[in-house]
Amino acid sequence: MERTLILLKPDCVQRRLMGRVLARFEDKGLNIIAMKMMRVTPELAKKHYAEHVKKDWYPALEGFITGGPIVAAVVEGLEAIRVVREMLGATSGLKAASGTVRGDFSSSRQMNLVHGSDGPAAAQREIALYFRDEEICAGEPTIAPWLRAADE
Ligand code: TYD
Ligand code: MG
Repeated sequence: MERTLILLKPDCVQRRLMGRVLARFEDKGLNIIAMKMMRVTPELAKKHYAEHVKKDWYPALEGFITGGPIVAAVVEGLEAIRVVREMLGATSGLKAASGTVRGDFSSSRQMNLVHGSDGPAAAQREIALYFRDEEICAGEPTIAPWLRAADE
């Protein structure tokens, strides 16, 4: 089982798309094992987007991500990091395939609704930025035997 961090960004919250986006992850069979609504501070934004802080578009990105409440969640499942990224689609909503969250709901490169960690190291680092260990509610749901075979 793999864990990944998702953020429902301020555009997702303001556009009242939280439920529809979370429903996609639940429908897929992924487990939401931690979740909170919060504000991203400029300090947290710089840590979260450390690889992008020097980019010329970073100040606008920081303004956006700190501009309204977000929902942070830890999602768990088999190959969850890749599965979630594929469900989100390409970075720009204009390039993301139909059927993906960004492809279906976004027409923007910046306002692309949802973040998903891009690899195991990023997932571990990002989960620790948003959640303390005791905030993560691990444990298989009782429906698990009906979502995949025992040897998968
Ligand atoms: P990136 O890590 O490249 O995308 P992804 O979220 O798909 O991993 O970029 C981080 C976020 O920065 C991205 O979700 C949207 C924003 N962004 C911009 O605002 N302008 C840009 O030119 C790029 C590439 C990204
Ligand atoms: Mg990225």
